[in-house]
Amino acid sequence: MLNLAILISGRGSNMEAILKTIRKKKIPANPAVVISNKPDAKGLRIAKKLGVKTEVVDSQDFKGDRAEYDKKIIKVLEKYGVTPENGLVCLAGFMRIISPEFIRKYKNRIMNIHPALLPAYPGLHAQKQALEGGAKYSGCTVHFADEKVDHGPIILQSIVNVKDDDTEQSLSKRILAQEHKIYPEAVRLFALGKLKVVGKRTKLG
Ligand code: GRF
Repeated sequence: MLNLAILISGRGSNMEAILKTIRKKKIPANPAVVISNKPDAKGLRIAKKLGVKTEVVDSQDFKGDRAEYDKKIIKVLEKYGVTPENGLVCLAGFMRIISPEFIRKYKNRIMNIHPALLPAYPGLHAQKQALEGGAKYSGCTVHFADEKVDHGPIILQSIVNVKDDDTEQSLSKRILAQEHKIYPEAVRLFALGKLKVVGKRTKLG
């Protein structure tokens, strides 16, 4: 069965949505480990409550050495059997850039969720960017991670209307509700072997 790792930095609501969907037996995957780069991430407590093993690889200990940090993450993944052969790594609010070595080793086996319709508004504060850009629609994207930030073959997207009176907070809330639907669904499709990356696209089916 697919061995899943989820990498978080904070709240962990997408992680929770994925873990709960697995628990309902809707995704044939083993939730092997949740890893946080922050010892105080709220999501760690949620994972433990859901009976999932947790690990902290504190980014503060690595003084900006991205390659070394990611080597340590890979060691932890291997410890839990999350390998490039049978694993999937879900970035879920993991506030770090992934090294090219990590991306290459787990090619098309690292997913990310972003709160905008990529390729629009990559980077931080995507919801604020959409509001300031005057967008009428925004949403969220699950994609395979490649060597650029918030970039790589798109798996699923969900569209959200931007209302005239939206604030960053109100828009984020509606987008988050969609994130919690499409991220578990993308993991499910992957676990069922239904995602095929062809060039820059992901084909479903
Ligand atoms: C989400 O909006 C996600 O799209 C972005 O970071 C946020 C993480 O939220 N990458 P949570 O930790 O999953 O609650």
